[in-house]
Amino acid sequence: THVVTDNCIKCKYKDCVEVCPVDCFYVGENMLVIHPDECIDCGVCVPECPAVAIFPDSDIPSESHWFELNRKFAGLWPNITKKGEPPGDADAWNGAPNKFAKHFS
Ligand code: F3S
Repeated sequence: THVVTDNCIKCKYKDCVEVCPVDCFYVGENMLVIHPDECIDCGVCVPECPAVAIFPDSDIPSESHWFELNRKFAGLWPNITKKGEPPGDADAWNGAPNKFAKHFS
């Protein structure tokens, strides 16, 4: 699977949504996640994300909390299939440190 990680938080550019062939993104207030059982590992979303927030599982340490968080919240949040507008302050948040602790949702 592929996994959405910290830098999506408050950036939420959603270019990933537009290119996903299986519509496996789910949307929370501040970030998106990927449903690990629906992702086909095509990887097309990776270069599309301006925040470089999406990684193949092989590039993430197995103990990372992002595996669990993507799975859990893909089951709770609604599916998203249309890109829409990113937050107005997305660029200001791109690269901000430790967004998870303060802004995950
Ligand atoms: Fe997030 Fe990047 Fe998609 S910022 S919404 S993973 S394009």
